[in-house]
Amino acid sequence: MKTIHYILLYIGAACALTSCDSGDIAEKVYTVDEKGYTVRMTAQVRGISEWDGTDYTLAVAGFTADSKFAQVQRAVPATLDDDAPLSITLSNLSDDIATVELALTNSLRKRIITLATINMSDYRDYGTHDTIRLDLGTIDVGQTGVLQMGVFDRACIQCHGANGRSAAGLTLTKGNAYAALVDVPSTRREGYMRVESGNAEASLLHLILREGGEDLLSHNHTEILSSQFKSNLEEVSAFIDQWIRHLKPQPQE
Ligand code: HEC
Repeated sequence: MKTIHYILLYIGAACALTSCDSGDIAEKVYTVDEKGYTVRMTAQVRGISEWDGTDYTLAVAGFTADSKFAQVQRAVPATLDDDAPLSITLSNLSDDIATVELALTNSLRKRIITLATINMSDYRDYGTHDTIRLDLGTIDVGQTGVLQMGVFDRACIQCHGANGRSAAGLTLTKGNAYAALVDVPSTRREGYMRVESGNAEASLLHLILREGGEDLLSHNHTEILSSQFKSNLEEVSAFIDQWIRHLKPQPQE
């Protein structure tokens, strides 16, 4: 599990300047709670405009432990220029928020894929008004970037690219996955492309990850995916399919 370790705690500083104790901060969101937590996520993002006009939103979102639906979320504006600084704050987070995530959500605010996570239980003991900060640096949050961070980095590169291992000669590390997959013939199943742009159902990637595809390769990839994404398997599979469908065949140079 890859977590990001840029978390800093700012104790008290913000409260000295503003009236944290007055209750003024309790405006909207969902719970007015004087123990509310504040989380600020910062990053420089690229590719956010690729979500414009889709069913998906990239958002900083708070989830309880037992629901797939965000209790509170703020979207990364799809109009943000590449590399423009981004800062999103969620405040008045109540104790039942278990995680704050940079996540792709759908129009019902259901979690599709998580890119970064703050476990709120790590911070509960530090007092009431600390701002929990997570800086993600520069990240590619376009469609391929989200697939990379949310799926390949988490579930695939241990066999496909990290530590010099590339099972089936397939490298799925950052910056390599697209060229290794898209419109590249399978080395294992004749007649298939690893990914056929625009056509999910014909793509080997789709077939090996879904139920019924267990025996297509010597390695059961359906099991790999389902063991990594226990609570959002369906959403991740649907996302991969929509990623394949959004690809346009490239003109040959
Ligand atoms: C535990 C190791 C392991 C993991 C994790 C793994 N793979 Fe594989 N993968 C393999 C092996 C081994 C093969 C070759 C299987 C064969 O020869 O039949 C393979 C083959 C493939 C192929 C077919 C390549 C071709 O040329 O036909 C694709 C596509 C693929 N993997 C995608 C993925 C994706 C996507 C993930 C993450 C969701 C993933 N793999 C995770 C071991 C792994």
